[in-house]
Amino acid sequence: MAELTLAVLISGRGSNLQSLIDACAKADFPARVALVISNEPGAKGLERAQAAGIPHQTINHRNFDSRDAFGDALGNAIKDSGADLVCLAGFMRILDSGFVNQWHDRIINIHPSLLPIFPGLHTHQRALEAGVRFAGCTVHFVRGGLDSGPIITQAAVPVLPGDTSDTLAERVLAAEHRVYPLAVRLIAEGLVTVVNETVLVDNSAVPETVLLNPLED
Ligand code: GRF
Repeated sequence: MAELTLAVLISGRGSNLQSLIDACAKADFPARVALVISNEPGAKGLERAQAAGIPHQTINHRNFDSRDAFGDALGNAIKDSGADLVCLAGFMRILDSGFVNQWHDRIINIHPSLLPIFPGLHTHQRALEAGVRFAGCTVHFVRGGLDSGPIITQAAVPVLPGDTSDTLAERVLAAEHRVYPLAVRLIAEGLVTVVNETVLVDNSAVPETVLLNPLED
């Protein structure tokens, strides 16, 4: 199967971008990053793209009169790169519906909660306040609603006694760095199908264990 080409959209640190760059550097990984775009000038993720020799550019949303015009500029740059799949990785702008519809089932996002619980911001603090025993992260196809769309992969991590939003965020982030490359690989291998707005994954590697938190001793 031909290699899937990715356009990764970021706004900041870019650690998820790095996880995709690192995955793509492996000989058997069926994707490569063709372009990195940041809406924020000076985003650390741009340095990661530079270090990896990946074409990168800043498209600053502040330079556009409307969300649509910003979306058009993004779309043109992505099309020019030849990317097949758009990966949002800490991209902090809401995209216009024209853009989202144009990339239907070809745009994915990573979110630091077990969606559909805790869409939006401050997910780790909200998880702690809700007293959940598991937190996690989700990779999903992007639809019009905030952090909504068919779920591709998820990873769960335990919430531990004494956790702060920082310690929980760190545990979730380590899981993000596994679950995003996994989603990209499954898509690249043609194993992901959207049926009635849910995702079917055509592989047999399913987890069997029940996760308990706390443990039974
Ligand atoms: C991650 O937690 C991601 O789930 C969320 O924004 C954060 C981006 O982190 N959408 P990074 O820039 O990838 O390090």
